[in-house]
Amino acid sequence: DAAPTNQALLRLPPEFTAREQGPFALPEVLVRLAGQGPVHQVAMRGDDPLWLVTGHEEGRALLTDPRLSSDRFRSPRLLARLPEPMRAQVLDPRARAGGFITMDPPHHTRYRKLLTGQFTVRRMRQLVPRVEQIVTEHIDAMIAAGPPADLVRAFALPVPSLVICELLGVDYADRGEFQERSARLLSLTTTVEEFGRLRDELRAFMGGLVRRKRAEPTDDLLSGLVQADPTLTDDELIGIANLLLIAGHETTANMLALGTFALLQRPEELARLRADPTLVDGAVEELLRHLSIIHLGLFRVTTEEVEVAGHVIPADSSVMISVPAANHDPRVFDRPDTLDVTRPRGPHMSFGHGVHQCLGQQLARVEMTVGFTELLRRLPGLRLAVEPGEVPLRTDMLIYGVHELPVAWDA
Ligand code: HEM
Repeated sequence: DAAPTNQALLRLPPEFTAREQGPFALPEVLVRLAGQGPVHQVAMRGDDPLWLVTGHEEGRALLTDPRLSSDRFRSPRLLARLPEPMRAQVLDPRARAGGFITMDPPHHTRYRKLLTGQFTVRRMRQLVPRVEQIVTEHIDAMIAAGPPADLVRAFALPVPSLVICELLGVDYADRGEFQERSARLLSLTTTVEEFGRLRDELRAFMGGLVRRKRAEPTDDLLSGLVQADPTLTDDELIGIANLLLIAGHETTANMLALGTFALLQRPEELARLRADPTLVDGAVEELLRHLSIIHLGLFRVTTEEVEVAGHVIPADSSVMISVPAANHDPRVFDRPDTLDVTRPRGPHMSFGHGVHQCLGQQLARVEMTVGFTELLRRLPGLRLAVEPGEVPLRTDMLIYGVHELPVAWDA
């Protein structure tokens, strides 16, 4: 079995991840369905149909509807369809503790409040110079080694991983191990069994970290949580730390790599950004919208019958609110298929919507603005080192992006 992507889990037909018209154009099937209406029933291989929502307005309404649950495995019927190693994990309360991205209010609310109290303006400000330093060190190393380089391995993967180390307070001595583990966890070649083992190892690593923060609290987020709520168990703290790693690493890494690829393929947009670096904030929002790397989400389950745009979705149905389709809805975004770094800020859904809206979005924005700014500033003549068609696309992964991005620059 391949990596435990949602595609494998949900048995979605492969054309839903295909990129027939190039790496930055949506799958043809999504474009066709979105043109027909905002809500669709999609046949799944050997499974119940999936309700696919392509409309922006309908998607936002469903993401704030309390009859839709983020706990996809609350239904025994859906649970029964999971492969055995995953079912065991999903049912293990210790493994699920603290993983609030799949909880509903009021359980979700408790963790969300605790975490919001830790993602303070002060802590985010303190992280900015650390992000700058991490970015600079990685570009220095690329320059020292000389072109060509794989931007994914040399830059896009290590930068967010180290930023999460800063956030959680991972010791410098342990950072190599932390990076290695998280990179392997995200790898394509990881099998379901290996994934289980890696996850257990990561839990053990996080357990050690949690115990150290309890014994000797410092100025980081985990120490802050321990102090804010002494009733949080080790399992809960481990779950929270794992969630931050998993939610913050692969997403940001793929935005950095795929975003660079997109800019290199649009020389006029790149030239505008190079000519006026103050455009970077808007460019980041536009890249988030245009690339829509959460290409197989967001997933919810109905707890009751829900009517939307004239369709009646029965209770216990799987729903996918498509981020790429919502972000390319022509009712909301003018010329949605065009990358325009000066596009006025619009309500893109790349960080989700509703109570689960991305907790790390400020931090992700800092990483992307600093990352893109410094890449363009320090690597003049940055270019692809292979033909665009040779860049391996992550059509096979839960988060879209590139597996590798061979680049060169003027040394
Ligand atoms: C939730 C996207 C970076 C932490 C989400 C959701 C999206 C998202 C779409 C909503 C999921 C849902 O509704 O089911 C992204 C993107 C990122 C990014 C595109 C990078 C460009 C980060 C970073 C962190 C982070 C850097 C933390 C360090 C979280 C957490 C949640 C979340 C903890 C769950 C929030 C909740 O359930 O209340 N993210 N994210 N994310 N994100 Fe991010």
